[in-house]
Amino acid sequence: MHRLIKFVENPLLNKHLERQATSLEMGFLDPSSEDFEEAPQIIVAELEHSQAINRIIDWKRRWPECYVALSVSELDRERWIAAESAGADLVANRGALPRLLRDKMKLLQQGDSLTKQKLRLKAKAVVNSGDGLVGRLPDSPEDPIAVFRMGNQLCAVRDVCPHAGFSLADGEFDPVSGSITCPEHGSRFQVCTGERLRGPADYPLRIYPALSEQEEIWVEIEQEA
Ligand code: FES
Repeated sequence: MHRLIKFVENPLLNKHLERQATSLEMGFLDPSSEDFEEAPQIIVAELEHSQAINRIIDWKRRWPECYVALSVSELDRERWIAAESAGADLVANRGALPRLLRDKMKLLQQGDSLTKQKLRLKAKAVVNSGDGLVGRLPDSPEDPIAVFRMGNQLCAVRDVCPHAGFSLADGEFDPVSGSITCPEHGSRFQVCTGERLRGPADYPLRIYPALSEQEEIWVEIEQEA
């Protein structure tokens, strides 16, 4: 028995999701019971839901292995990134999502895992003996990434301000709060948690695991297997 759950209000999306599941002789469980005894394997929801980002964070905290997929009806790139930063495994347009999910359902049916592949990327070092910017990955397969040192910790963030897309790497770093201030309009973020401390940006920053090995800085990203 597969554990697929959807929190979807759009009738057309519901219909297409049901159709894809039925074509694989699978089905969605009743979403009214969130207190599942076993962790769900796939959760589908809509990014337009006002609590979508908080719900993603909660689901991933409770069930880290669960594959969380979100549909979007309007292109809002920063909300899209915020959903991925919160842990969503797939964000796709409403029309494309059922077909993309079918591939995942098929993997489950075959007994395969939906866990993503981890990729380690080497950062270009930035000369800095103190806290602040120590590495950059301008050409990562994702968006550019900046790495900051704060005490003994390395913290990597998506180097794109959620307000208007400018680079944060050259902004002002505050070693006391571990925050970076966007050089364009002053949004501020904590670099180790990605938390938005001040607008005008509306969303937090995506963060990545980072580590130092043999004097090189490495950042880990996840990609579909
Ligand atoms: S681009 Fe960063 S605050 Fe506007």
